[in-house]
Amino acid sequence: MRVILVGFGVVGRSFAELVESEARKLERDYGLRPRIVAAVDHLGAAVAEDGLDVKTVLESKKKSGTMEGLGQQYSAGKSALDVIKEVECEVVVESTPTELTSGEPGLGHVRAALKEGRHVICTNKGPLAIAMPALMELANHNKVLLKFSGTVGGGTPVLDFAKKCLEGSKIRSISGILNGTSNFILSKMTSEGVTMQAALAEAQRLGYAEADPTYDIGGFDTACKLVITSNYVLGTSLSIKDVRIKGITEISKKDIDEAKSKGSVIKLIGRVEKNASVQPQEIPATHPLNVSGTFNAISFDTYPAGEITLVGKGAGGMETASSVLRDLIEIRRAFAR
Ligand SMILES: NC(=O)c1ccc[n+]([C@@H]2O[C@H](COP(=O)([O-])OP(=O)(O)OC[C@H]3O[C@@H](n4cnc5c(N)ncnc54)[C@H](OP(=O)(O)O)[C@@H]3O)[C@@H](O)[C@H]2O)c1
Repeated sequence: MRVILVGFGVVGRSFAELVESEARKLERDYGLRPRIVAAVDHLGAAVAEDGLDVKTVLESKKKSGTMEGLGQQYSAGKSALDVIKEVECEVVVESTPTELTSGEPGLGHVRAALKEGRHVICTNKGPLAIAMPALMELANHNKVLLKFSGTVGGGTPVLDFAKKCLEGSKIRSISGILNGTSNFILSKMTSEGVTMQAALAEAQRLGYAEADPTYDIGGFDTACKLVITSNYVLGTSLSIKDVRIKGITEISKKDIDEAKSKGSVIKLIGRVEKNASVQPQEIPATHPLNVSGTFNAISFDTYPAGEITLVGKGAGGMETASSVLRDLIEIRRAFAR
């Protein structure tokens, strides 16, 4: 199966490594032989129709930050849109940075790939948070699959768990801790009594938070994941504009202490029932959603089975790459059928 990697950062590179290290198992267990025919970053593209040498691409990117080390296979300045049009493949993996105003450049990449009749695996939340219903329609129209397991829960199979394992149940509402950075900060404030600024600085030092943490602590990342989960699992047609969003920036040490005195904790919770919202909420310390550190947790209130909660790591290169691989296996199965 020929694969183009659009975005060759943490997720793209982890996926390339995973495919390389698991090659035997993938062929033996799933009859799957992924061949990476192109990798594109923001500076250019490496292309080899019979498959790139993954080790060389990874080494080059690590050494110089570019794929120049590939020699003639590398074209500086070549864009992802050109590669999607010109290079034959079955699957495009889109993992460029998330952007929530226009969804670009990811939205353009996903649209172009679907129009070219390629299956798409997207880890970038932007295109889906902005235009998921239209993209699903475009995929159906072109008789290809659009998969996005890695957008919610990193390697934890949140979406497919709800879609496949809860079949036959009615899902009345969904609530989740969907952003590891915010959860780390709130957990730290609760367990160590530190201020928001101190907890944020620690998150930045550990690489959990960006220099500009607005996307995480402003609640936008949680809102993206809520939109994707609600649309996929409940069949809604939400975009991020439909979500009422309040982040954790105003939570003080005093709020945390007050909650604690009542046996509660404050968590940033994304919730969809009739409406979709993201806001800090007090929950009992014994509640299953009270996970610590960078963990994610999501609860499905179901009939007749009651509340079912899934907990796992919500991010990480290899964890997210494992979701991309699951999507690829599913595409292969659909192909075989
Ligand atoms: N990391 C995680 O744990 C995780 C988990 C779930 C979802 N995600 C999502 O997955 C996506 C990728 O995450 P990441 O951590 O891999 O990000 P990253 O390390 O910043 O990598 C982004 C990659 O996209 C490339 N890029 C930027 N603009 C481009 C363009 N116009 N055309 C082609 N390539 C372009 C960058 O090029 P350069 O290398 O040249 O800068 C880089 O290779 C993001 O949307 C993120 O939200 C990440």
